[in-house]
Amino acid sequence: MTVLTTEQLGVLARAVSRAPSVHNSQPWQLLVRGSEVDLLERREVELRRHDPSGRDRVLSCGAALTNLELAVRALGRDCHVGLRDDGDVVATVTIGRPRATSARAYLLYQAIGRRRSHRHRFFHSRVPATVQHALVVAGETTGVHVVRPARLDKLAELLGFATRVLRDDRGYQRELAVWTAHTRGWDAHGDGIAEGALGSEAFPAAGLVRTTTPVPDDAVLADRLAAENLLIFCTDGDSRPDRLAAGMALQRVWLTAASKALVGSVLTQPLHLTGFRARLVSELALPGVPQAIFRFGYPAVPAAPSPRLPLGELFRPPGGPR
Ligand SMILES: Cc1cc2nc3c(=O)[nH]c(=O)nc-3n(C[C@H](O)[C@H](O)[C@H](O)COP(=O)(O)O)c2cc1C
Repeated sequence: MTVLTTEQLGVLARAVSRAPSVHNSQPWQLLVRGSEVDLLERREVELRRHDPSGRDRVLSCGAALTNLELAVRALGRDCHVGLRDDGDVVATVTIGRPRATSARAYLLYQAIGRRRSHRHRFFHSRVPATVQHALVVAGETTGVHVVRPARLDKLAELLGFATRVLRDDRGYQRELAVWTAHTRGWDAHGDGIAEGALGSEAFPAAGLVRTTTPVPDDAVLADRLAAENLLIFCTDGDSRPDRLAAGMALQRVWLTAASKALVGSVLTQPLHLTGFRARLVSELALPGVPQAIFRFGYPAVPAAPSPRLPLGELFRPPGGPR
């Protein structure tokens, strides 16, 4: 028995579809089974050079899961989220009894449509400490730690190294070109990253390293990082549920930021380089496995939204191909 109307399913689908995802690949689908909705990982979406183990694909599903939960709550229904590690099913959301939406859940739900990747510079004013703290609290959960990095000199050194390696990796750059070349603009249906969303500043810690990205001197990069606000998401373990929890936390923080007029972007690109994670843990004394870096601040310029696949493609028919 389906407990939601077509319009209500549309609300869930729109919320899921607006989640951030690696290279805007949107690697998820929904399977509606009465009062239960499975979130499925589309494992056929492969980024062999950027994301060889599919880690970012799972983080992306985590972000979509946060949006799905918020949408169910915004519809005035209770909601239970069960993480699963069962083939392509990453989670099952059970829709419960009618329940008034909390003000906080509604604020975050409303921010879903406003959130977008902002890879540009930020406005120069500092984000108040209380607001920074609220972001950290929004992300912290059992097994997930949200850390403000202290050693920006070390971080700059590592990011500079990663930029040089990625810029010269021809196989990597070919794959990136495929994901950035075909996207016509935000108002067209599709996946991939539109050129306009990448920005022209080419700051290596703010977007994706391409062959034209300049590598600033480490000291310049460290100064630039100091002018931003950074959070690193770490997990106790590195299983699929750990990665999913990190993606959920990332999206809670991003939506909390958007609800407070902040903008941001996420960086995982350098983390995939062999040995990078281990160096980051030791140089920055991190409390777990680094899964993503989030930079945020007040916007100095607007950022373009990205396209999305048609909503109809989001639903997997019951008994349909897996
Ligand atoms: C797990 C994950 C990893 C990402 N890694 C990067 C990255 O390294 N660099 C970057 O510029 N954007 C990164 N992004 C942002 C995506 O490119 C972005 O979410 C997608 O293009 C959709 O655009 P939107 O965020 O504006 O909706 C990442 C997003 C996710 C969820």
